[in-house]
Amino acid sequence: QSSDPVRRHKVVVCRDLGPDVMPLLRERRELELIVWPEDKFCDRKWLLENIPGCSGVLVMLSDIVNEEFLDTCGPSLKVVSTMSVGYDHVKLPALAQRGIKLGYTPDVLTDAVADLSVMLALMASRNAKQTLSVVQNGEWPSFSWAPFAFCGRQISSSSQKRTITVGFLGFGRIAKATLARLVPFGINHVIFLSSPKSKRDSPNECAEFERQFGVKSVRRTADLQELARESDIVFVLAPGGPSTHHIIDEYFLRAMKPTAVLVNPSRGTLVDSDALAKAVHEGWIWGAGLDVVEGEPNVTADHPLVKEPRCVVLPHVGSATFETRLEMASLAARNLIAGVLGEELEHELGL
Ligand code: DGY
Repeated sequence: QSSDPVRRHKVVVCRDLGPDVMPLLRERRELELIVWPEDKFCDRKWLLENIPGCSGVLVMLSDIVNEEFLDTCGPSLKVVSTMSVGYDHVKLPALAQRGIKLGYTPDVLTDAVADLSVMLALMASRNAKQTLSVVQNGEWPSFSWAPFAFCGRQISSSSQKRTITVGFLGFGRIAKATLARLVPFGINHVIFLSSPKSKRDSPNECAEFERQFGVKSVRRTADLQELARESDIVFVLAPGGPSTHHIIDEYFLRAMKPTAVLVNPSRGTLVDSDALAKAVHEGWIWGAGLDVVEGEPNVTADHPLVKEPRCVVLPHVGSATFETRLEMASLAARNLIAGVLGEELEHELGL
């Protein structure tokens, strides 16, 4: 009879990560693995029953990591690894207080979310929702081609000699990758507002961005109203959480141009949904492209934003490409293993 000399750490994984990633965890003899067995949101009761005494937990953005969660885990907990770049579901001060590490998955989803951001801007500007439904509902035969039927707003400006200003609320990795995709559209005026935390010391910051992206002007503003007033498209690409809750409110939306489009691929809580539905319905703005809505996933067909023909609403699929999700899942698994074994995480959020 052989005794196992390896010390085993209990870890809980809130979703099966599929046949390419689960072996990373299953093959580690040091781990005693408990995996939520169903293909739906991890049940809270099941989670709380299974986390006591664990060293690490791998969570999704739908799993709330708060005091209740941490107290239930107990003092053995070393690491929480979230398969997301966002962390508004995690109570950071509570983790910091207990000296627990947080692993997350930045960078690997930047391209996928930037692609989707541009897609949402185009869909909202060019009436994709209305026009798709005309075809879906079999109504195309009754619409003959007409000079101005289904016209939307044009994003590219090179042939029109127009100035299109793109506004970014938040100017991190995904915003910059989105801008890089828009430059070939002839976009050359950029205005951005980002948190003072990310303020760089360089006095030439904007000139550096102009050079980096090859655009005529990049301007930082501290004034939300100016961002609203001047932008033809506003991309909301800032983190969720209390400090940005409803930062896009009625006041902001009323200041926007009637031809402008709002795109939100970040977190639903940044936007006041009722105000946005009213803004689109009453024509304060042209339309909206949303990958996230406050209260998701409980967003049903009778939601005011879903009912609005010029609001394109997607069910939080920004990072949903096979390539990206695979990278996110394996990075989350590696962060978990490293944290449990007391090694450096590939991506640890500074708390
Ligand atoms: C994240 O990782 O935070 C994204 O919202 C998921 O796609």
